[in-house]
Amino acid sequence: MFTAGYEEQVFAGAVPELMDRPERVDFGALDIAFDGTVLRPRPWTAMQSIWAAELAPSVGPGPILELCSGAGHIGLYAVVLSGRQLVQVDSEPAACRFARLNADRAGIADRVDIRCDDIASALRPDERFPLIIADPPYVPSVDVSRFPEDPRPAIDGGPAGLDVILACLDVAAGHLSGDGACLLQVRGPGQLEALASLADARPLVVADARVHDDERAVALVRRQPHASGRP
Ligand SMILES: C[S@@+](CC[C@H](N)C(=O)[O-])C[C@H]1O[C@@H](n2cnc3c(N)ncnc32)[C@H](O)[C@@H]1O
Repeated sequence: MFTAGYEEQVFAGAVPELMDRPERVDFGALDIAFDGTVLRPRPWTAMQSIWAAELAPSVGPGPILELCSGAGHIGLYAVVLSGRQLVQVDSEPAACRFARLNADRAGIADRVDIRCDDIASALRPDERFPLIIADPPYVPSVDVSRFPEDPRPAIDGGPAGLDVILACLDVAAGHLSGDGACLLQVRGPGQLEALASLADARPLVVADARVHDDERAVALVRRQPHASGRP
C-alpha cells in the first residue's frame, strides 16, 4: 500500500500533472503508480528485471541502463534485486515523472538518475554500462489501433515495429561494456528472428532469448566475441 504521503500528494491533488485517474499495482516487490498517460505495467515483464538480476554477478561493475523506462518499474525492480545503481531514459515527461515518483516510493531515489530525453541523445559518448534493459515500442503502426487503452508513443514501433528496437541496438553497440548484457524486449518469436540479423550488423549477437508467448519475448544481446567494448 502507498503511505498517506502518496495519497496526500497524488490522490488529494497536490501533484496535478499526475491526476489522470492515478492507479497503483504490485510489480514484484514494488508498489507502482501510473495513470493513462503511460503504459499500464505488465506483470510478465518482471521476468526482465529478474533476468537482469541473475546476470548482474557475471558482468562488470557499474549502473544498469534502462531504455524506454516508462513508469520505471522494470529497472527499479532490477535495482532492488541486484543492488546496482540505475540510469533511466524516456522521452515522455509524464513517464519520467512517474519513474521519479516510483523510485521515491521504493526508497531508492538516491540510486536512480532519470533522463527525460530521446535514447539517441541521452548518454555521454564515454558512458559504458554492464547491463542494459530495453523495452521499446514494438507494435507495427498498422496494428496500434488494436490497443486503444495504450498511449501511442508507448507502443508505436513504426512501419515494421522495428524503429525504436533499432535505436536501442545502436545504443547497445555504443554503450555496452565489453562483457556486458543487454536484455531487449521484442514482440515474440517473429521479431526475435528479425533481431538476429539487425544485431549482427552492429556488431552484436543474440546470445539467448526467453519467450513468454507469441507476442512477448526478451532477447539477451551481447557484443560479438571479437568486438571491443570501446567502439
Ligand atoms: C513499451 S513502453 C515501455 C514502458 C515501460 N518499460 C513499461 O513496461 O511500461 C515504451 C516507452 O518508450 C518511450 N519511448 C519511445 N520512443 C522513445 C525514444 N526514442 N527515446 C526515449 N523513450 C522513448 C515511451 O515514452 C514509452 O514510455
